[in-house]
Amino acid sequence: MPAATPAHELVVVPAAGQPARTALLQQCFDTEIDDFEEDATHILLRLVPSLEPVGTIRCVKTKNYYKLSRLAVLRDHREHRFGRALVLALHDHVKADAKICGLAPSDTVSVISHSQIPVKGFYAKFGYVPEGEEFDEDGAPHQKMVARLSLSD
Ligand SMILES: CC(C)(COP(=O)(O)OP(=O)(O)OC[C@H]1O[C@@H](n2cnc3c(N)ncnc32)[C@H](O)[C@@H]1OP(=O)(O)O)[C@@H](O)C(=O)NCCC(=O)NCCS
Repeated sequence: MPAATPAHELVVVPAAGQPARTALLQQCFDTEIDDFEEDATHILLRLVPSLEPVGTIRCVKTKNYYKLSRLAVLRDHREHRFGRALVLALHDHVKADAKICGLAPSDTVSVISHSQIPVKGFYAKFGYVPEGEEFDEDGAPHQKMVARLSLSD
């Protein structure tokens, strides 16, 4: 039987200009900074009650789709379903945002990830399917993976 998932909380980092954003964003341990940082939605996974940050994921909204990136769980805390919790939290955020933007329950929204090759099987568990050929990004082969989320769930 799989071990129980340690107690944790998911925190959606408040939008730019909101109190607490800077401190929480620093806990997302981003090593790269790009032009999407300010507008992106960052989600942090922390253990409770220690509030130790152990995982993060980022969502960038574009005109036609949402982009999942920066997914990482600290090595010592993997295989506790934290990666799953982060992806599902991002999906919840995407669906809520799409509904706020006026999409109907019968609509679907696309989430795109540029998956590193060893992680394709992880994304596949959440409905992501490969599109196109592998390509180089940051010096490593990647695969575009796309999930189409139903807003009726
Ligand atoms: C990928 C990563 C986020 C997974 O985090 P995790 O917390 O260990 O994953 P979970 O425990 O939530 O796993 C969920 C499911 O995916 C499976 N899984 C995890 N890693 C996998 C992999 N590399 N390939 C295939 N399946 C994988 C688990 O076995 C589990 O399956 P189950 O639901 O059938 O039991 C983590 O390994 C990581 O941070 N890796 C380094 C950074 C990275 O590669 N990020 C993605 C860049 S594209």
